[in-house]
Amino acid sequence: MEPLLRIERISKSYTPDARALSDISLTVGRGECVGIVGESGSGKSTLAKIILGLAAPDSGDVYLNERSMLHAKRRERKTLRKDVQVVFQDPNASLNSKLPVWRTVVEPLENYPDSVPAALIAAGRTKRDWAAALLRQVGLPEAMLDRYPRQLSGGQKQRVAIARAIGLHPKLLVCDEPTSGLDVSVQAQILNLLKELRMKHGLSCLLISHDLAAVRFLADRVAVLRGGVIVDRFPAERLLAPERHEYTRRLAEAAQ
Ligand SMILES: Nc1ncnc2c1ncn2[C@@H]1O[C@H](COP(=O)(O)OP(=O)(O)OP(=O)(O)O)[C@@H](O)[C@H]1O
Ligand SMILES: [Mg+2]
Repeated sequence: MEPLLRIERISKSYTPDARALSDISLTVGRGECVGIVGESGSGKSTLAKIILGLAAPDSGDVYLNERSMLHAKRRERKTLRKDVQVVFQDPNASLNSKLPVWRTVVEPLENYPDSVPAALIAAGRTKRDWAAALLRQVGLPEAMLDRYPRQLSGGQKQRVAIARAIGLHPKLLVCDEPTSGLDVSVQAQILNLLKELRMKHGLSCLLISHDLAAVRFLADRVAVLRGGVIVDRFPAERLLAPERHEYTRRLAEAAQ
């Protein structure tokens, strides 16, 4: 079966003498969750940004359903981009401090007026109703609809960011350190939520994290990034297997 996402030989340098990514190839299948682990500066966020179209690679391409996301014409690119949504480490990056929660959650709909409102209107439902349904999906009560980001905890903000990300029914969720900014007790709740959304909606996921435990919990397959190169890749259950790359073993030991 063809993969949902196919990253083909991506390289990227920010400066002439240092490569942030070297010849990265990776696939994510439908309904699959692939984890990318690596230390700070290994190139994880650079890869996320390239997939999301927020940074341009020097070479290589990114395909969604075998359609190039980087070379598609504007209209097709917009359609492809709708299927790839993101959850960042800092939920404040996706929340507007001036907007109540419900407006933030439905904001992406404004960019895609054709996709959901028709169904909403047909059902006689407002955007606010839609926001309420999305909040339910991420485990937040309706009472949160009219709150502002400053009135929410870190975990609640991340739930709102996830609600916003899934509102357009993306096929792929790119999560760049989605739990790293949260209290340990809240991290597990957010990972559980992501797992639940995966199961319920068949959502594919690219989970970027320095946290091996998180990746092991959620991912089916893992790629280890070091200095912009994938040095190891394996099914998640083989994390502690003897054939692991020495560097992966060191990461695993450090995480004990
Ligand atoms: N805009 C930029 N300009 C110049 N260099 C950059 C830029 N963004 C990232 N880099 C460099 O590229 C390399 C990879 O950075 P990147 O942010 O992708 O790492 P990361 O794995 O996400 O790290 P972290 O775990 O700290 O988030 C680093 O050496 C970084 O300093
Ligand atoms: Mg990063």
